[in-house]
Amino acid sequence: MISSAALSNSLDSDTLERDRELILLKHRSHFPALGVINRTYFNYGGQGVLCGSALKSITRNFQHIEELGCFSNAAGDWMMAEYDVTKTAIAQEFQVSPNTITLTENTTIGCNIALWSVDWQQGDRLLLSDCEHHGIIASAVQIQKRFGIEIDYFPLFNSRNTNSDDPETVVDLLVQHLQPKTRMVMISHICWNTGQVLPLQAIAKACHDLNVLVAVDAAQSVGVLPLNLAEIAADFYAFTTHKWWCAPLGLGALYIRPEIFDAVEPVFVGWRGLTAKTPIPQWKQDGAKFEVASSTYTLYEALRIAIAHANSWGNQQQRYERIYKLSRILWQKLNALPHINCVRQLPPESGLISFQINRELAKRAIAQKTHGLIARQLESEYQILIRALPEPDCLRASVHYLTTITDIDRLVEVFANLA
Ligand SMILES: Cc1ncc(COP(=O)(O)O)c(C=O)c1O
Repeated sequence: MISSAALSNSLDSDTLERDRELILLKHRSHFPALGVINRTYFNYGGQGVLCGSALKSITRNFQHIEELGCFSNAAGDWMMAEYDVTKTAIAQEFQVSPNTITLTENTTIGCNIALWSVDWQQGDRLLLSDCEHHGIIASAVQIQKRFGIEIDYFPLFNSRNTNSDDPETVVDLLVQHLQPKTRMVMISHICWNTGQVLPLQAIAKACHDLNVLVAVDAAQSVGVLPLNLAEIAADFYAFTTHKWWCAPLGLGALYIRPEIFDAVEPVFVGWRGLTAKTPIPQWKQDGAKFEVASSTYTLYEALRIAIAHANSWGNQQQRYERIYKLSRILWQKLNALPHINCVRQLPPESGLISFQINRELAKRAIAQKTHGLIARQLESEYQILIRALPEPDCLRASVHYLTTITDIDRLVEVFANLA
C-alpha cells in the first residue's frame, strides 16, 4: 500500500510538473509561429522560431539606423556597441572570454575558417566522421583538390548498431583512424542525421596528445547542450544562432581556443580583422582577426533577446533536461509503431529523432511515398513541420525545450493513422 507521505510527495511532484508545463505554455505564447492554430513545429534543427520581442527588435533597429543617419558617427558607434555586447552575451553562454569569439553569418563559414586555416601540405590527412554535413564535406574536398591532401572517414553511422555510442568506444574508433600525417579532425558535436552526441572533451584530449587539431561543427549542439568551451578544449567550435537558439537567420559565430590563436592565419581577409595601423596591415588580437567586412548589426539584439528569453524559462542545463526527457518519449512512442524504424537503436541524448517508414509493414499508400513526399504531406494536410534527410533516407523531428507532450502525441497519432 502506498504511504500517505509517498502519496503526498508524488502529488507534489505532479503539481510541480503541471505548474512547469503551464509556465512553459505561457513562455511559448511569446512565439508567434507557435501560436498558429493546429501547427506543430518539429524543425528546430533546421531553423528555430523567433520570439515576438526578437522579431520586433529587428525592424526597430533598422529604423533606428535610419533615424540616427546612415553611416553617421552615431550609427557607427551604435553598431560597435551592439557588436561588443553581443560577443559578450555569446561568450557568457560558453563561459569563455569575448576575445575568443569571431562573429560569422552561419556554421559553414566558421567551419571553413577552421578548415582553410591549416597550412596544408601535399600528403597531409584530414579525418572526418561519416556523419558530417555535405557543406563541410564539400569544403574538405576543395582542400583536397587544392593541396593534395587525403581525407579519411571514421564510421559513426556504419557502426551505430554496435556499441559505438559508448564514449570510450567512440574515442578509440576515432584514434584508430588517425594516421601520422593527420593534421586535423573535423567532427560534429551532435550528428545532424542520427542525433548522436560525441564525447568531445575526450576526443580533444586524445587528438591533442597526438598533436592533431580538433574543429567542431556545432550547428546542432549550441542551444541544446550545456557548454563550457574552455573545459572541452576543442580548437575551433563553429555554430549558427538561428537553430536551437531561436535567433534570426544570418548570424553565427566561431570560438577559437586561445592557445592556438597566434598560430592561425585567416584566409578571407577584410577591414574588420585589421588594426587601423598602416601601411602594413596588422591583425586584431581577438576573434575579429577572422571577420571580414560589413554585416547586419541590426540583427544582433534579436540574438541577445532570444538567449535571454530562453534563460528566463530555465538555464541551459534545465532546457537540455527537458529536451532529453521529451526526445526519449517521442523515440519510444515512434518505436512502438510497427511500421516505423528509428534510425538510432539507443534512446536519444539530443533533440534529433530520425526515423524511417518500414515499407513492408506500412499501408500501400504511404509505403510508396518517399520520405520527402511524406514530409510535404504532413505539412500540407496536418500542418506538422518535420524534414526529410537524404543520408540516411529518413524523416527527422527536432524536439526543443519549447516542444510539448501535445506536439509529440499529435505527431505520433498522425503516423499511427498513416499505417
Ligand atoms: C551539422 C550541420 N552542419 C552545418 C549545417 C549548415 O548550417 P549553416 O547554414 O548555419 O551553415 C547544418 C544545417 O542544417 C547542420 O545541421
